[in-house]
Amino acid sequence: MEGTEKKTLIGRIRELKKMNNAIILVHNYQDPEIYEIGDFIGDSLELSRKAMEVEEDIIIFCGVKFMAETAKILNPTKRVILPNLEAGCSMADMSDVPGLIKLKEEYPNAGVVCYINTNADVKALSDIICTSSNAIKMVESLPNDEIIFLPDKNMAAYLQTKTKKKIIPYEAYCYIHNALDGEMLTDFKKRYPMAEVIAHPESPPDVLAISDHVRGTSGMIKAARESKAKEFIMVTECGMAQKLRDDVPGKTFHSFCNICSYMKMTNLFLVERALKKLEYEIFVQEEIARKAKIAIERMLELS
Ligand code: 13P
Ligand code: SF4
Repeated sequence: MEGTEKKTLIGRIRELKKMNNAIILVHNYQDPEIYEIGDFIGDSLELSRKAMEVEEDIIIFCGVKFMAETAKILNPTKRVILPNLEAGCSMADMSDVPGLIKLKEEYPNAGVVCYINTNADVKALSDIICTSSNAIKMVESLPNDEIIFLPDKNMAAYLQTKTKKKIIPYEAYCYIHNALDGEMLTDFKKRYPMAEVIAHPESPPDVLAISDHVRGTSGMIKAARESKAKEFIMVTECGMAQKLRDDVPGKTFHSFCNICSYMKMTNLFLVERALKKLEYEIFVQEEIARKAKIAIERMLELS
């Protein structure tokens, strides 16, 4: 989009936002053009906290559906709008209620830690929710020696290296992180021998084994700021390297990445449309929302 066209569109979005008394929440993986209209940019945990305390009438959620659902659960009197209803998450859709019930029957003494990348009905059947930034803490917080962790098998394997508890994984994964390969990363590292590797915990075990930092999206920014290193390889969604270049000036970021098509389904035109038509509004069935909220709030109290 041309500079002036983009400027006009951003101006219209800001006007509509004011008229509707709306706030725009943005996940770190969104396109940089979406950062420009965001009132708050963050990772899944930060966005949940922010959603809970929103005072405006309307939340425009620039991220994916499970995040918008979480916002609705935490702040049910607000209207939560997802600009593109197709913006789901394939990992969230890989776990379901029958799958979780089956595991619970197989392991009746296990506690259930559920990654926030799930649909609300799965959250409702879980003891506690976690995000990439607090998963270890949430696993340790439950009294059970056995923990069903769902849905991400890679994060489950990573957690198993960090806890004495027995982690029972679900067989799901993030299609973009799971496709990252340890051998290819080993070759990539040879090109940048001074660089530290920062990887998302949704990456496979062979990738995490050769990473210097394993962090969620906002944790990556913190790790790059705090490290003495000047150069980093970012192992995650491709948008993160640019975010780090903007947020941590003076350091160099190389991308070892894949693009999440779901996160890139939101653009400025769709945000303008969302504000004009107030579509697509997210609803969560009352009983599911009530139970899911208990599990989400347990996490928020502890983190
Ligand atoms: P964060 O919780 O680290 O923001 O991650 C969300 C996500 O979808 C990663 O694939
Ligand atoms: Fe889902 Fe993976 Fe996209 Fe995150 S990066 S929203 S886990 S598909």
